[in-house]
Amino acid sequence: MNIAVIGAGNRARKYLSCIPGEVHVLYIVEPEPLRLSSAAAMCGVPSSGCFTSIEEFFSAPRDIEAVIVATPDQLHVPVALEAVRHGYHVLLEKPVAQTLQEYMTLLEASLSRGVQVGVCLEMRFHPYFQRIKEIVSGGMLGDIVEIDHTEHIGPDRMAHTFVRGLWSRVEDAGPIFLSKCCHDADFLMWLSGGSVVSAHSTGVIRKFRTDRAPYGATARCTDCPVSDCPYSAVKLYMERREWIDGFDVPPGSTFEEVIDSELAHGRYGRCVYRCDNNVYDTQDVEAVLSTEVRLNMHLEGTSMQEGRTTVIRGTKATLEADGGRIVVPGLIREDYSHLGGLPLHAGADRALVEDFFAAISSRREPLATLSSALEGHKLCFATV
Ligand SMILES: NC(=O)c1ccc[n+]([C@@H]2O[C@H](COP(=O)([O-])OP(=O)(O)OC[C@H]3O[C@@H](n4cnc5c(N)ncnc54)[C@H](O)[C@@H]3O)[C@@H](O)[C@H]2O)c1
Repeated sequence: MNIAVIGAGNRARKYLSCIPGEVHVLYIVEPEPLRLSSAAAMCGVPSSGCFTSIEEFFSAPRDIEAVIVATPDQLHVPVALEAVRHGYHVLLEKPVAQTLQEYMTLLEASLSRGVQVGVCLEMRFHPYFQRIKEIVSGGMLGDIVEIDHTEHIGPDRMAHTFVRGLWSRVEDAGPIFLSKCCHDADFLMWLSGGSVVSAHSTGVIRKFRTDRAPYGATARCTDCPVSDCPYSAVKLYMERREWIDGFDVPPGSTFEEVIDSELAHGRYGRCVYRCDNNVYDTQDVEAVLSTEVRLNMHLEGTSMQEGRTTVIRGTKATLEADGGRIVVPGLIREDYSHLGGLPLHAGADRALVEDFFAAISSRREPLATLSSALEGHKLCFATV
C-alpha cells in the first residue's frame, strides 16, 4: 500500500518508525526543509516525492491509498477533508477538529466518499487502559455509577508544551482540554458508552502567571538566580537533555549550539511565569451521560505529579487505577507500572498504526474511527 505523510514533525517521526513492511511512503509534505529532508531520508523518498505545500501536493492525483495527517491541530480538518475528497483513507492526529461543526463536516464527507478516517487516540491501544476497559465490559463492577479521572500533566510536559510551547495559546492550538484531554474524554466515553447529556466546566490559570513568579525571577532561565525552580529550562534542556526532540539541528551546527540559542533567544528559554500562555493549567469538568454515569474529570498542571488516575464506582465494586496499578479490592490487583517509560506510549502508537493499515487492507473499520471518537470530542467541545 502506498501512502503520503503530511506534517513531518515529532508525531510523524514516531509513526514512520513503525510503518508495517508492506506500506510504502511515496510522498512527504512538510514546509520546514530540515524536517522534510530528514523524514524523506528516513523513508527513502526521492526529492520528486517531497512537497513543501499542501496545495501543491493536492494539485494532482497521487498513486496512494492513504495519508497520515500529523500537522498542527488547526490544520487537521482542512487537510483531512482534502484527502477524503481525493478518496484517500486518513490516519488523523487528535484532536480531530476545533469545533463540532468542523468535525461533522469531516465525518459526513468521509461517510459519503466511503473512506476510513482513523484517529490517533492511543489510549485505546494501551495495555493498561485496555485492561480497564476489559474489566468494566466484563461486568465485575456492575453498572457504572460514577467515574473520577484526573490527568496530571507533570512539570516538564506542562512547561515545555503548554506554557512555553506550541500548545500554550488558545488562538494557536485551541483550549487545553481539547488538545490534551481529548484522549481522556475519548477513553472515558469509550468505556462508558452513551452520550453527554450535560457538562459543566471551570478552568483557571492558577500558577503560570506573572504574579506567581518567585522573588527575583528573571525573564529568561539563563540568568535567573532562583536555583530551586522545578521549571528551569537550563536544567531541562541543557543538563537533563529532555524534551529536545523537536529542536532542529541545521547542517554545520551542534545540538549544544541549538540548545544554547534556544535558551538565549527562543520561546523555550522563557521563564514559565512570564510567558504569553493563556490555556488553563487547572480545569474541572462534571458531566452527566445518557447512561446516567456521572463523570468528574480534572486537568491538573500545577503539581509535580505526572500521569492519569482513575476511580470507577459501580453498583457491585469499585476500580482504582493510579497509572500503574489496577485494583478492585478483593478481586483484582495488577501492576502495569513497568510500562511507564516504554517508548511509543508503551507500544500503543505502533498498535494504532498497525490497526489502521490492517483495517484498510481488510476493508474493516479501524478501532478508533471518526464516528466512535465523536462523543469524546463532543464532551471536549462542551467544556469550551
Ligand atoms: N497522539 C498523541 O499522543 C499526540 C502527542 C503529541 C502531539 N499530538 C498531535 O500531533 C500533531 C503534531 O504534533 P507534533 O508534536 O508532531 O508537532 P510538530 O510541530 O513537531 O509537527 C507538526 C509538523 O507539521 C508541520 N506543518 C505545519 N504546517 C504545515 C502544513 N501547512 N503542511 C504540512 N505540514 C505542516 C510543521 O512544520 C511540523 O513539522 C498535533 O496535532 C498534536 O496535537 C498527538
